Amino acid sequence: MNTAQRAARVMARADELASHSALPDGILRAYLTPEQSRVTTIAAAWMREAGLRSWPDAAANVCGRRLVDADDRPALLLGSHLDTVPGAGRYDGILGVLVAIEVADRLRDADLPFALEVVAFGDEEGTRFGTTLLGSRALAGSWNDAWLDLVDADGVTLRDAATTFGIVPEQIGSAARAPGSLVGYLECHIEQGPRLEELDRALGVVTAIAAAERRMISFRGEARHAATPRHLRRDALLGAAEAIVAIERIAREKSCSATVGRIRVEPDAVNVVAGFAEFSLDLRDETASGRDAAWGYIRQELHRIAGDRGLDVDVVSTHVAPEAPMADALRAAVAAGIAATGDATPVELPSVAGHDAMAVADLTGIGMLFVRCAGGISHHADESVREADVAAAIDAFEAAVLHLAQTAV
Ligand code: GLV
Ligand code: MN
Ligand code: MN
Repeated sequence: MNTAQRAARVMARADELASHSALPDGILRAYLTPEQSRVTTIAAAWMREAGLRSWPDAAANVCGRRLVDADDRPALLLGSHLDTVPGAGRYDGILGVLVAIEVADRLRDADLPFALEVVAFGDEEGTRFGTTLLGSRALAGSWNDAWLDLVDADGVTLRDAATTFGIVPEQIGSAARAPGSLVGYLECHIEQGPRLEELDRALGVVTAIAAAERRMISFRGEARHAATPRHLRRDALLGAAEAIVAIERIAREKSCSATVGRIRVEPDAVNVVAGFAEFSLDLRDETASGRDAAWGYIRQELHRIAGDRGLDVDVVSTHVAPEAPMADALRAAVAAGIAATGDATPVELPSVAGHDAMAVADLTGIGMLFVRCAGGISHHADESVREADVAAAIDAFEAAVLHLAQTAV
C-alpha cells in the first residue's frame, strides 16, 4: 500500500469513527460511554490488522504492540485520543491514532532497537467529568482515585460509569506503565491553530505545550422578582458578565489565552434576577508563571466585582498542568521526519492546545508533529485536513521513528 492509499484509508477511517456519536447530528464521544466502547473495538481491530497485539488497559485506553516485539524491551509509544468535545470535528486526536496505526503497519517487521506500541486514549478532552487527560494520566501513573467521585452532567459518578463500561474503578490506576518501560512518546495531531496554513506548510514541529489551568468560578447573590428596583438587586449573572469581559481584557493585556465556554445560572428563569451564576475559565500561557500572573489579576477583578455588587465569589480548580516542553531527542526526530518529506527547514511552533503528551511527559520524553488544519478550526464540525497533508504526516511520522531508531543509544 503506498502513502496516498494509506492517507485515503486514514480519511475513510476518520469518517467511520465520526459515525459513532452520542448526538444524532454532530460528533460527541465521551469517556466510558457506549460510543467509546464501539470505537475502542474498531480501533483494536485496526491495530490487529496492522500487525499489533491489541488489548484494552485498565483505564479503557486501547493499546497495541508489534507482534515481533514479544520480549519486554522498552517501547516507543505512538498515540493520541479517540474521545471528543460536543459538536467536534473528526480529526482532533483521531488523526494521531490513525496515523500511528499506519506507521506501525508499515514498520510491522522493521528491525528497531526498541519495541513499537500504539495507544488510543479514552479521555483527553475531559468532556464528561470535567477533569481532563484521564486516559493518558492513568497510563502515565498520575491517576488519582479521588477522581472516581467526579460526576457527569447526569449525576453519574466516574466510579459507576467505569463499572457500567466494564472496567474496575479501583483498578484504573493499574494502567500505569512502569518507569523505564518507554523510550519515548510521539504524537501526531492537527494544529488547531492557523500558523501552518499562514506559513503554507503541511507539517510543524511542536516545541512545547502551554501551561493550563481550568477553574469553575461562581457568584452567589439573591434571586428576586424582575420587578425589584436596581439598588435592591444582587444579580449574580451581571457579576459573571462583568467578570467575563474583564477576563477578556486581562487576557489581551497579558497575551495569554483565556476562555469562558460554559455558564449556568439559577434559577434560570426569564422573570427572576439570577441568584447564582457559575462559569468555567480555561487559562493558558506559554509558562505556568505567566498563567499564574494572569490569574492573579483575574482573581483581583473577581473580588472587586463581588464587592461592588454584594456577591459572594467562589473558585474551584478542576485541572492544572505546567508547560510541557518536548524532549530534545524526540523534537529532533520529528524535525528530521519532516525534513525527510522534503521540507528542509521545518517550522517550529508551540501548542496552545492541550494534548495527551502533556500527561505522558510525567513518564517519558515527548515529541509532537503538527498537521495543518483548514483555517485553524477545531472543536467544531468544520475541522478539516487535506489528504495530501495526511500523506506527508504518515511519511514524516514514520521517518521520525526511524530517525530515533538510528540515533537511540
Ligand atoms: C484540548 O483539546 C484542549 O486543549 O483543551
Ligand atoms: Mn480537543
Ligand atoms: Mn486533541
